[in-house]
Amino acid sequence: MMKDSSDAAAMEDAPVSAYERAAEEGIDPRCVPQYLEGTPPIGNEIVAPVYSNEHNENWKYLFNRQMSLLPGRAGESYMKGVEILGMDDSGVPALRDLSARMEAATGWRIARIPGLLHEKDFFGLLADRVFPSTDYIREKHELDYTPAPDCFHDMFGHMPMLTEPAVADFYHRFGKTALNAKGIQRTWLERLHWFTIEFGLIRQAEGLRIFGAGIISSKNEVTHALSDEVEVRDFSMEAVINQDYEVWHLQPILFALDSFEQLENEFRTWTEREGLVI
Ligand SMILES: [Fe+2]
Repeated sequence: MMKDSSDAAAMEDAPVSAYERAAEEGIDPRCVPQYLEGTPPIGNEIVAPVYSNEHNENWKYLFNRQMSLLPGRAGESYMKGVEILGMDDSGVPALRDLSARMEAATGWRIARIPGLLHEKDFFGLLADRVFPSTDYIREKHELDYTPAPDCFHDMFGHMPMLTEPAVADFYHRFGKTALNAKGIQRTWLERLHWFTIEFGLIRQAEGLRIFGAGIISSKNEVTHALSDEVEVRDFSMEAVINQDYEVWHLQPILFALDSFEQLENEFRTWTEREGLVI
């Protein structure tokens, strides 16, 4: 996720306001995990901000750049998801509209969140079949890279895959499971998230395709992920939870699913074995 998304949830609780600490330490506050104050607005409760022309242009640029790279590289479910959600280059989409379309497809809704969330808040929303998303977009000088979460990653990277039923069900179970995880189980789940939701590949009849949001929303990762520089391994729960990763580099090892049902089924079996089922 380049640690660039709402799902880059912090693993530790913070005793003081994360924003206050960030300000003191000179860190970009968008990169600091925060606790939610009350329930965030969901679906129709979300009021869309008024985007400037420049922000809508930034969306248009990013959307067109990625969409020019994705045919033949992104999985079928992803491309279909973009259509289902009605995303195009006309400007930053409204979260309430995306939420309505996603709910019709798989029952998932969207919450507007202010930025990076602490893990309990993040997993708690997933466990309710609610995807937390920012609605601000990166600035012009950050078009090639941003360390902070933004709505291009959240919307364009993540949301289309939540219209795929098996992924939608997997992610729901993931949220419920993560709330129960303790100790090393948390690390295992973090790795699973990384190598599927963020950096997952899938084998289709036409060949290897990408579906992870960290790849889909990044110009460099899209071209790198299917190149010879990456070692592609077969997905299994055992392999993925034992594979460490680094956030700040292009990924040298990725895992390929045979199907999204494989992910859903293997994860269900694993959670039962680990006693993590709710
Ligand atoms: Fe992400």
